[in-house]
Amino acid sequence: MKARIVGTGSYLPEKILTNFDIEKMVDTSHDWIVTRTGIEERRISAADEDTSDLAVKAAQRALDMAGVSADEVDLIVMGTVTGDYPWPATACLVQAKLGAKKAFAYDISAACSGFLFALSCADDFLSHGRGKKALVIGAEVFSRAIDWTDRNTCVLFGDGAGAVLLEAQEGDSGVLSSHLHSDGSHFEMLYQPGFGTRNPPSFEGLEARLTFLRMQGNEVYKFAVRSLTEVSKEALNAHGFSSEDVGLFIPHQANLRILEATVKRLKFKAGQYFVNVNKYGNTSAATIPIAIDEANRGGLLKEGDLVLMASFGGGFTWGGTLLRW
Ligand code: ACO
Repeated sequence: MKARIVGTGSYLPEKILTNFDIEKMVDTSHDWIVTRTGIEERRISAADEDTSDLAVKAAQRALDMAGVSADEVDLIVMGTVTGDYPWPATACLVQAKLGAKKAFAYDISAACSGFLFALSCADDFLSHGRGKKALVIGAEVFSRAIDWTDRNTCVLFGDGAGAVLLEAQEGDSGVLSSHLHSDGSHFEMLYQPGFGTRNPPSFEGLEARLTFLRMQGNEVYKFAVRSLTEVSKEALNAHGFSSEDVGLFIPHQANLRILEATVKRLKFKAGQYFVNVNKYGNTSAATIPIAIDEANRGGLLKEGDLVLMASFGGGFTWGGTLLRW
């Protein structure tokens, strides 16, 4: 029994924030941002749009594509680090808004790797017969967790959501394997210092801007390229495949330089890998499911194709998943 993707969906907020808009907010330029990151614009949620709202729209589109109603879903697993509330899990809010009455629902906190970690959990449930249909979602509203006065980080991120509906099926199509890793010894290179138990809510913490993402960009860059490359090779080697066997490589869309350095090391050819970071920036856990949906609706995924996905994010966390479309 394999967990097969039978529906995909994504949702991007309407509001577009271009690099030229950001030029008016901090000391930066369109050219600097494009040269260093490949990002041209990103989407920003409306004031009344929360992470669960983005997630529900993406999930509903995945359900519609599959022709499945929400009350048939057995579980909802969602990758996010920008949930509506610290708790309960945003997946529970999504479950209620969708009307997925019989589904159990929980969040995975693995930053940009959240979707692949969530996909692996859902795959384990379905491939072991514990449920037939699962929604796996990656959704973030990072625009509310970044410091819009910090040019080092504010240019990189955007809001969005993507979702897939997995169904347990016999046959060759579906998830072949997931390869997940973490190294918490570097957590301070990419994290949000407040307001958890380490730095509980305080006026001093607000003044010190502790609720915003902190990042050591250069170090993250090096770790990301190395980890994305290694975990992609690990996933391919596990099945005796090489990069030539891959129909489409869908890497986490953090920035174009990380992505190009990775595909070069893996020897992927132009057209063999997916890029949309120019339009949306880094939407963290949402980048891979948004890319899957765009690739699927764009006709880039054919039955039988080998699809490789790879992610890297705060924690550090990283993962690679291989599936047969
Ligand atoms: N506009 C203009 N100048 C800037 C900006 C900006 N937006 N941001 C930084 N600078 C300046 C810096 O202040 C620095 O100036 P200084 O030399 O006077 O101190 C200079 O540009 C060079 O800074 P570097 O950090 O060396 O620039 P670098 O070439 O490394 O690019 C970047 C920075 C784009 C952040 C890069 O390190 C990177 O891509 N890192 C990966 C980060 C990332 O993608 N994080 C996302 C989360 S993790 C993930 O999803 C994989």
